[in-house]
Amino acid sequence: MATRQDNTISNIKTLNYDAVIVGGGGSGMRASLHLAEAGMKVAVLTKVFPTRSHTVAAQGGIGASLGNMSNDNWHFHFYDTVKGSDWLGDQDAIEYMCREAPKVVYELEHMGMPFDRNEDGTIYQRPFGGHTSNYGEKAVQRACAAADRTGHALLHTLYQKNLQQGTEFFIEWIALDLIKDDAGNINGVIAIEQETGTVAVFQSPITVLATGGAGRIFAASTNAYINTGDGIGMAVRAGIPLQDMEFWQFHPTGVHGAGVLLTEGCRGEGAILRNKDGEAFMERYAPTVKDLAPRDLVSRSMDQEIKEGRGCGPNADHIVMDMTHLGVETIMKRLPSVFEIGKNFANVDITKEPIPVIPTIHYMMGGIPTTIHGQVIVPDLEAGTDEDGLYAKGNVIKGLYAIGECACVSVHGANRLGTNSLLDLLVFGRAAGKHIVDEFHHADHNYKPLDPRVLDYTVSRLDKLQQSTSGYNAQDVADEIRATMQTHASVFRTQAMMDEGVAKILALGDKIDQIHLADKSQVFNTARIEAFEVANLYEVAKATMISAAQRHESRGAHSVSDYDRPEDDAYAPNGRNDNDWMKHTLWYSEGNKIIHKPVRKVPLTVDYIEPKVRVY
Ligand code: FUM
Repeated sequence: MATRQDNTISNIKTLNYDAVIVGGGGSGMRASLHLAEAGMKVAVLTKVFPTRSHTVAAQGGIGASLGNMSNDNWHFHFYDTVKGSDWLGDQDAIEYMCREAPKVVYELEHMGMPFDRNEDGTIYQRPFGGHTSNYGEKAVQRACAAADRTGHALLHTLYQKNLQQGTEFFIEWIALDLIKDDAGNINGVIAIEQETGTVAVFQSPITVLATGGAGRIFAASTNAYINTGDGIGMAVRAGIPLQDMEFWQFHPTGVHGAGVLLTEGCRGEGAILRNKDGEAFMERYAPTVKDLAPRDLVSRSMDQEIKEGRGCGPNADHIVMDMTHLGVETIMKRLPSVFEIGKNFANVDITKEPIPVIPTIHYMMGGIPTTIHGQVIVPDLEAGTDEDGLYAKGNVIKGLYAIGECACVSVHGANRLGTNSLLDLLVFGRAAGKHIVDEFHHADHNYKPLDPRVLDYTVSRLDKLQQSTSGYNAQDVADEIRATMQTHASVFRTQAMMDEGVAKILALGDKIDQIHLADKSQVFNTARIEAFEVANLYEVAKATMISAAQRHESRGAHSVSDYDRPEDDAYAPNGRNDNDWMKHTLWYSEGNKIIHKPVRKVPLTVDYIEPKVRVY
């Protein structure tokens, strides 16, 4: 391996690594593990202690067709994921993910991950929304679970393995910007340490963005407060477009009033959603799989019940989830955290009474466009468009990868299936790791000192904040972003609502330029961190609002009532328009430009799954 010397540029300390991973969640640690095992010198920069990354909040399971408890194989998983994506997912990437799924789960098992077990010693699997056997015939048990703490168990397993392999963790460090050279290659990141306010350069031929989601652009969110889209903001500032940002998933069962996630594993174990009349209404919307329909459909159905006056509570503004029939033993064994959450956040004993729930923002289907190996790829604008007006050619950004929720491979398309998020971060964290190791062994490892000019932009951002004497409070502006997104990019959208949202979000640009940092101290200055975070939130919100307003159809989680449901489609309120809109959106920050690129329709080894009406 290359020997690199640390040095100093522009009075900023420079640390040299073979690879720098930004983000210590599931995808980052899966990638770093692969690199460290191959003998590379790896740094993981993480905003929080790694086992507190947001992956820890994933409860229900990892999707993999092990077939331990019901008839299953990867073809069924592939079909479900394509259908779940409302045909916007790239079928080559989906095939890759579903075929690799059993391997990544068994790898984790061999690392020591404490999965729940069946009597015969195999991994316990529970049903989850949209996962079926025999191409939609009935629900299948595919979610590999560690009670309702699967993400927690996953993070601890990966952290321990990384420590064993010598990965270096920089805990409570926040990356500010990518370091881009004149050729457009990425050479690492510039970052700040929370504890001391120290700024340092992490120079590396490989940078991996694994910064997770950005659900904090919405007011009601299952996401941790750390989910501010930092990797997305960094990519945008480096001129990289974002893909399919109009698609945001609402998880049907956030605790009403608190937003905390109640896993879909509840419904996997048999929980039932009921309206004010006690009716199990999902039977009307999804007659085959009922409460185990995919999240976009369940969220819309809940919203519909509320709109039509069948909501629960004094304000008729929520639905209830009933688990009372599951029995105390099942609840305490399979859903112990849900029991605790019920008590602590809703004052409800779920063994005795139904718990109030509401669709709550949960997951960003879009993100930084990547290849199947995690390489960031941008359209080749010079090559122009094909006969359909789409940018079909791309250029890989040298030195930059993106994995996990901040990336858009795209395997989730317009709607992700539950359990495919943990799967995505494992499969593509590992795929990126493999690709990097392969490239690294063929690369030129000569150390090239950085041109100090590459730091100017970030240094000017730091200085501007430090010297600010007046302006806007970062949290106040973040609240305005959240309020706007909550109103204008919700479960049901209208064109007028989105157009108004675009105007409101763009109007916030001036405030973002004039953030004032009142507290100039260096030690644990969380206000400074928030000032950087709000800039990232803003890029995500802009991308979302503008991409949404420019997709003139309904597909998956982007449900626009101006576009009618087809007459033959009674149960999916869906004005999908495959003729005009089966294409990916790309948003560029510069000029807020939108372009489109083709959906990759050709799987790796099997036949293309033709689009059809999406009923369950
Ligand atoms: O409901 C859940 O346990 C969440 C899982 C997921 O988002 O995949």
